[in-house]
Amino acid sequence: MDNHQLILVLDFGGQYNQLIARRVREHNVYCEVKPYQTTIEEIRAMDPIGIIFTGGPNSVYDEKSPKCDPAVFELGIPVLGICYGCQLMAHTLGGEVTAAQADTAREYGKTETFYNTSCKLFRGLPEKGISWMSHGDYMAKVPEGFALVGHTEMCPTAAIADEVRGFYGVQYHPEVNHTENGSLMLKNFLYEICHAKGDWTMEDYKNTSIKAIREKVGSGKVLLALSGGVDSSVAAALLAEAVGDQLTCVFVDHGLMRKDEGDEVEAAFAKWKFHFVRVDAEQRFLSRLAGVEEPESKRKIIGEEFIRVFEEEGKKIGKVDYLVQGTIYPDVIESGAGDAAVIKSHHNVGGLPDFVDFKEIIEPLRLLFKDEVRQLGRELGLPEYLVMRQPFPGPGLGIRVIGDVTKEKLDTLREADFIFRDEIAKAGLTQTMNQYFAVLTNMRSVGVMGDGRTYDYTLALRSVTTTDFMTADWTRIPYEVLDRVSVRIVNEVKHINRIVYDITSKPPATIEWE
Ligand code: XMP
Repeated sequence: MDNHQLILVLDFGGQYNQLIARRVREHNVYCEVKPYQTTIEEIRAMDPIGIIFTGGPNSVYDEKSPKCDPAVFELGIPVLGICYGCQLMAHTLGGEVTAAQADTAREYGKTETFYNTSCKLFRGLPEKGISWMSHGDYMAKVPEGFALVGHTEMCPTAAIADEVRGFYGVQYHPEVNHTENGSLMLKNFLYEICHAKGDWTMEDYKNTSIKAIREKVGSGKVLLALSGGVDSSVAAALLAEAVGDQLTCVFVDHGLMRKDEGDEVEAAFAKWKFHFVRVDAEQRFLSRLAGVEEPESKRKIIGEEFIRVFEEEGKKIGKVDYLVQGTIYPDVIESGAGDAAVIKSHHNVGGLPDFVDFKEIIEPLRLLFKDEVRQLGRELGLPEYLVMRQPFPGPGLGIRVIGDVTKEKLDTLREADFIFRDEIAKAGLTQTMNQYFAVLTNMRSVGVMGDGRTYDYTLALRSVTTTDFMTADWTRIPYEVLDRVSVRIVNEVKHINRIVYDITSKPPATIEWE
């Protein structure tokens, strides 16, 4: 990375590795995640100001377990080992790591931990707090030169430090939210120990990405799927900035948009210097979705149809080399990258057909979390209303009409969803929730309106408060607001006679219903 201090995150296969990177960047220090096999020459060439070893599922005493070149300890730069990374450091430098005897030092989950605050890693922080542990191995003996700087009831070696050489190891995971002050410990590593200047900002990310995109694309033609959501909008602005009129943004109006959204998107992007194509594909999507009830099938159909439309548009433009997607990191994780379980196949990742008629897919936001994407959008000069727009799933209202999707049901949902959003805005609550929408269930029930019996649909309202969309809490919307929404919807929208509010968090529920 030109002109920036670098923290190198050496990846030993742990589940929170990208989270470590996110935390480091949140403290305005650039970092890159590289495989543990990265050679010492490559590391030297990168010239990092510090190295973080991630966790990993292995045991260091297994011969085949991943190990980095021990010469990293001779570079004269600070190293922080986390979990497996901590054990590897101890093992490599002459300590002893063994399988924890049952009921002694094996720890999983939230654990009360005590810290020595004279150690730079814990400087200015409380002397005790909850940490997130997940280790079956135990450091029976720490290497020479190391002091014990953190302990739990079961484990005297929860944190170790050789302050002279700048080597630190923690058994717990400071990168996860469950570890109290974990982010500040990482900050201490960056600023107190590695003497970071904090020279990484989204402005830099923007400039570097633009440069990288230009180099990659050359004089090629680029096609981008613009949905009007934050991710694709930011990707569009980034690409527009990088390759201007080589870019065509295709906005597929699949008929699964919210009320007036198609027109809004068109209006918002009219001023940008790229080719904007709006394809009216409502009929096409609805006929393919007719009679399909199973959520995963709907997602697959919508995802595939998207790609087909892009291919066709691409062919109209002439040769298209690159397809841009606004995939962001939580999508990648939840679509079952690696061995993680597939929860839903997000249409812009897992649902891609095998054959795509483009040279390559570019995903410029793939490593960014939502808050970083918004920040990047601001850097690119996108208006605040677009940057702060709540996320909208690729399959759109297709997965918010439960079961069979028809135009009539979509229209009903659009009206109800609009009223919900309108009342939330009028109540001044938009900043207190991160995603809120209506779902048309396929359950019907008996009601009474005027003097007549009704037998109509139940509408569910959903609102969540979250930072990462991987976990979420349901929003405590004031009753009087819910009441106004309910009264308006049953009065103004045909075919809805009952409103319910979803009070489940994620997990165990997901944010969307399908
Ligand atoms: P879930 O329902 O999995 O949703 O808790 C997490 C976040 O992802 C959005 N979402 C999608 N986004 N393509 C997308 O781009 C999809 O297929 C998709 N499915 C869900 C959802 O709205 C929430 O913000």
